[in-house]
This record gives sequence, structure tokens and C-alpha cells, in this order.
Amino acid sequence: MFTTTDFIPKKYTSTIENGNFEWSAPSNIALVKYWGKKDNQIPANPSVSFTLNNCKTITKLGFEKRTSSETNFSFDLLFEGKPKEDFKPKIQKFLERIEVYLPFLKDYHFTIDTQNTFPHSSGIASSASGMAALAMNFMSLEKVLNPEMTDEYFYQKASFLARLGSGSACRSVKGNVVVWGSQANIAGSSDLFGVEFPYTIHENFKNYQDTILLVDKGEKQVSSTVGHDLMHNHPYAERRFAQAHENLDQLITIFESGNLDEFIKVVESEALTLHAMMMTSMPYFILMKPNTLQIINAIWKFRNETQIPVCFTLDAGANVHVLYPENVSEKVLQFIQSELVVFCQNGQYICDHIGDGAMER
Ligand code: PMV
Repeated sequence: MFTTTDFIPKKYTSTIENGNFEWSAPSNIALVKYWGKKDNQIPANPSVSFTLNNCKTITKLGFEKRTSSETNFSFDLLFEGKPKEDFKPKIQKFLERIEVYLPFLKDYHFTIDTQNTFPHSSGIASSASGMAALAMNFMSLEKVLNPEMTDEYFYQKASFLARLGSGSACRSVKGNVVVWGSQANIAGSSDLFGVEFPYTIHENFKNYQDTILLVDKGEKQVSSTVGHDLMHNHPYAERRFAQAHENLDQLITIFESGNLDEFIKVVESEALTLHAMMMTSMPYFILMKPNTLQIINAIWKFRNETQIPVCFTLDAGANVHVLYPENVSEKVLQFIQSELVVFCQNGQYICDHIGDGAMER
């Protein structure tokens, strides 16, 4: 079993003065949802997600050794090529959290130059892809300082660091299907980092499609940090956490059998349960919008009438992720265009599918 001290490095054997790295990391969509956490970004229950392919953050990290030893972090932050002061506090906090695991951070001045492939303020959270892309870059630098590092440690620690930036970010390092959180029946699963789902995945899930319907692009009324926090003293918390374990166990069987009816039941129930937890928090809140419900009802009607195995999931917002196998893409896209686009803000949606995780550029 890994503990946090496994990620505190021994003395580095190499040095480097300056340079730069560039990584992309994708977003991910949870099937079993992470909602509720303990101290230090330890999840209250395990989760599993599809890694996406097209929705990603691309981050370039420039670094230059500072001349004297300093007590503060030093970094510039550029978003789409322009300085972005309001992102800095989040990065500052991230650096503070990870410094014990990357003791070189104050030795360098960093230029973090970041951009997303999805439209700004689309309501798609960029924290997962953003924190994962930054963590990958820092690991590339640590690998120069410690050239003996194995690939396995590199990716595990990248996910470990990303988690400290934003919980779900730890699922954006690796590809296809990623589990985060300790689950008795999943070998290697850990609360500290995400791991690739280690068992058989049926052909039906190969290149699974996710079309993201942008229902509401406004600022969320309640942040996920506040939402996680409201799971403390939540009347249904313990039952919910146990249910997440049960649903994850069910998915192990479903991934192997390829049973899409069973898949749909688990995935849609997880989405609605996530939002039920929000509605039963104190204070309570609702992130779905009228059009979220219009879309859900239209999907149910279409599925009933056509028997096409299309379903939805939701993240902590009003947008709807429409999930379906590749072999029904054409029919589902037609349905989306003719019946669902009217419910999207400015008719906007993004076509994505399962992908391979973070890539060096
Ligand atoms: O990583 P966070 O703290 O933004 O939380 C993400 C929570 C959900 O997206 C709602 C669920 C999940 O597992 O991704």
C-alpha cells in the first residue's frame, strides 16, 4: 500500500538551469461520482471515469533557476497568451500543497502558459485538465532531477499531485477508464491517485462517445468545494458512500459483459443521485436548469422508442453529457441535432469520446 511519504523524494542526483516542457491533459467524465471528501483531498468514496479526448488543457511550463534561495514561489501565469492574475491564487495554493513532494519548487521561476481546447466559460470545468497538465510538467522537471525515476512512479506521482490541485484531476492523467479511490475488488486502487481500470473492458465501450450539451455557461451558484463540504453531516452521506462502492462493483461486471442496459441504469442513477445529494444538503441547492430536465426526458423518450442505448450523465452543473456506443453515433447525432440542440445555450455542444490521457507535446 502506498502512503503519502512514498511521494517525498530523496536527494536529487542531477541539476538543470532552465528549459521548458509542454503537456496536454484531457477532461474526464465520472460514471460513479466523487462527491464528499476527507482532509487532504482524500475521497469519501471511490469513483470511475471515462477519460475524454478532445476537451483538454495544453500547458507549457518554462523554468529558470533563481540565483539565491528564496522563501516565496515565483511564477507568471498566462492564459491564452495573456497574463491572468485571477488564476494565480489557485496556483499559489496548489504549489503550497505540493511543495513537500517537489522540494525544488522555490528554486525556480516558472512561466505557466496555458490554454483550453474547449470554449472559455463553456461551463466545462477546466480544473481537472488544468491541474493534470501542470502536474505532468512538474513531473517532467522532477524526472530530469532524478533520471532513475520509473515510468510507473512518474504517472502515479503526477496523478497524486493533480489530486492535490483538484480531486477529479487525478483521473485525467491516464487513459480510457480510470478508478480513483480504494475499492476492495479493484487491485491497485488507491485513495491517493487514479489508476487505469485493470480488468477486461468489452468492445461495446471501445471509443464510447460523449457529446456535451452546453445548457448553461454561467458561473455555478455553488462551487464543487462547497458541495463536497456539505456532505459532512449530510443525512444520507453514509448510505451514499456505500452505494458508490456497490455501483463500482457492478460496473466491474458490466465492463466485462458489455451489458449496456445495466450500464445505463448505473450511470443515470449515479448522475441523479449526485444531484439528489445537492438537493438534500443543508443549505440545499439545485444546479440543474429546466433545459437539463427537458434533455433528460427527451433522451428517455428517444431510448424507449428506438431501443438505442443512449444515456446521460451530469457533472456538478447544468450541462448534460450524452453517452453512447460508437456504432450508433450517426443516429444519436441526428437526434441531438433535431431534438436536443434547442435546449443548448446558443445551440452549442461539443463532440468528444474516450481518450488516452495526458500527452507530452
Ligand atoms: O474535482 P472536483 O473537486 O471539482 O469534484 C468533481 C465532482 C464531480 O465532477 C461532480 C464528480 C466527479 O467525480 O468528477
